[in-house]
Amino acid sequence: MTLYERLGGYDAIAAVADNLLPRLMGDEQLGRFWAHRGDDGLAREKQLLIDFLCQQAGGPLLYTGRDMKTSHRGMGVDESDWGRFIGHVEATLDHFELAAAERDDVLNFIQSLKTEVLD
Ligand code: HEM
Repeated sequence: MTLYERLGGYDAIAAVADNLLPRLMGDEQLGRFWAHRGDDGLAREKQLLIDFLCQQAGGPLLYTGRDMKTSHRGMGVDESDWGRFIGHVEATLDHFELAAAERDDVLNFIQSLKTEVLD
């Protein structure tokens, strides 16, 4: 089974994005990355995140956004930001009570993107 199937498919992954984004935007240190963005821009970005996660997990979606290096270059995301980001991902995975194998697979995948996201 693909990770996409093991996680519960599109609806489960969309629910993860729904849960994670308010945590990130509400974080006192990370909130600056989403300040002054309009509702439609945020909705489009959330959809791109869902599509990206679904595609990378082996689902039948076509991700049409930019690669992680291109889309984050110049934002100034640093080690401290990354640590907080991972903390929120963990809180989201805890919220959905993922099994250990799926939790590890998701976290390892996110960690594999670190060098692309950090400046
Ligand atoms: C501290 C870490 C991160 C911060 C602060 C951050 C912040 C952002 C922001 C502000 C945007 C909007 C960029 C724009 O509109 O031009 C964005 C886009 C995006 N991010 Fe992140 N991000 C982080 C990590 C990640 C990770 C780990 C992933 C993948 C799991 C990810 C996936 C995406 C996707 C798919 C987009 C849309 C790309 C596009 O517009 O083509 N981000 N991110």
